[in-house]
Amino acid sequence: MLKLEVALAERSYPILIGGGLLSDPAVFAAHVPGRDLLLVSNTTVAPLYADRVRAALPDRRIVDLRLPDGEQYKTLEYVARVLDVLVANGFGRDSVVLALGGGVVGDLAGFSAACYQRGIAFAQLPTTLLAQVDSSVGGKTGVNHPGGKNMIGAFHQPCAVLADTTTLQTLPPRELRAGLAEVVKYGLVFDLQFLGWLERNVDALLALDPEALAHAIHRSCELKAEVVRRDERESGDRALLNLGHTFGHAIETATGYTEWLHGEAVATGMVIAADMSARLGLLPAADVLRVRELLQRIGLPVDPPRFGAQRALECMRIDKKVKSGRIRLVLLDRLGGARFTADYPDDALASTLATHFG
Ligand SMILES: NC(=O)c1ccc[n+]([C@@H]2O[C@H](COP(=O)([O-])OP(=O)(O)OC[C@H]3O[C@@H](n4cnc5c(N)ncnc54)[C@H](O)[C@@H]3O)[C@@H](O)[C@H]2O)c1
Repeated sequence: MLKLEVALAERSYPILIGGGLLSDPAVFAAHVPGRDLLLVSNTTVAPLYADRVRAALPDRRIVDLRLPDGEQYKTLEYVARVLDVLVANGFGRDSVVLALGGGVVGDLAGFSAACYQRGIAFAQLPTTLLAQVDSSVGGKTGVNHPGGKNMIGAFHQPCAVLADTTTLQTLPPRELRAGLAEVVKYGLVFDLQFLGWLERNVDALLALDPEALAHAIHRSCELKAEVVRRDERESGDRALLNLGHTFGHAIETATGYTEWLHGEAVATGMVIAADMSARLGLLPAADVLRVRELLQRIGLPVDPPRFGAQRALECMRIDKKVKSGRIRLVLLDRLGGARFTADYPDDALASTLATHFG
């Protein structure tokens, strides 16, 4: 088992990574307080893993709540359901919400915990690679609104993150690859050495080699935890984690959030961001190729649909990162280093979009 600590100003919390954590009563005894627990999951994940979590929590009162599976249910309506169940069961301030599932369950259950009685504890039990390396760490919780993704939310840090790598065995391969896009992102933004390790270990990761997975998750969480420690509320460095996201957002918006998984859009977005960085003279062209090749080896898409530069620009403008009408972008200074900036010539963005989107 690997362990690291997310050290924040007021409190810190552990992230545990390893095979079999969700079946280990000692892990829960040490890291999940409370007698009354609400286990929030969905109709796909609960049948696979809820029983083992229950079995690892003897002597606690556990109420089970299974939400329908899908991003379209990450809404206030389903937060209300969680809150209704907490109230109906007389859960007090010392009760704990357990979020068992991917980022959708984690974001929704975490936000519900943030709202209930002005905030009760919650633990993340992430079961997708994306959730294990990204969404379960850092305390961003929330739901979507018809007016935009993740429009409603709160910063609410979990009391613990228990990432059981054996759960990835049942994850659809496409979801695994989408999670690996975020892992590559950490290498590109922060750590060239880690990027090299990923290049050498793509096959092991795709084959779900336990040691390779544990290392990739641990290093990703370490890098995210460090940036969250420096900038919990995303007023600075934390924005670097959005490499590829603004270009990816254009793909997701233009395709109606149905065809592309988030990680797939981010993968293509990172190639576009790398290309724009090269156009600005920040990155050698050979490095853009290196990024593209790694993502292709993982099996991720690297070219967007050609719906036109104008449409891409319109979609990018609806992003939360637009400030004073200017689109701010994460660009690569080098492999392993990035900047968040609105300071670039407009024609560099225009020519980048024209090349990739037509
Ligand atoms: N809070 C943050 O900082 C943050 C960061 C990144 C993404 N997110 C959010 O995360 C969400 C995406 O998360 P995701 O990619 O985990 O998607 P997801 O939660 O929708 O999970 C993907 C699919 O895999 C299924 N699944 C989950 N674990 C499984 C397992 N072990 N075996 C079989 N199937 C399994 C789910 O039921 C779902 O169908 C988005 O809503 C996004 O906004 C939040």
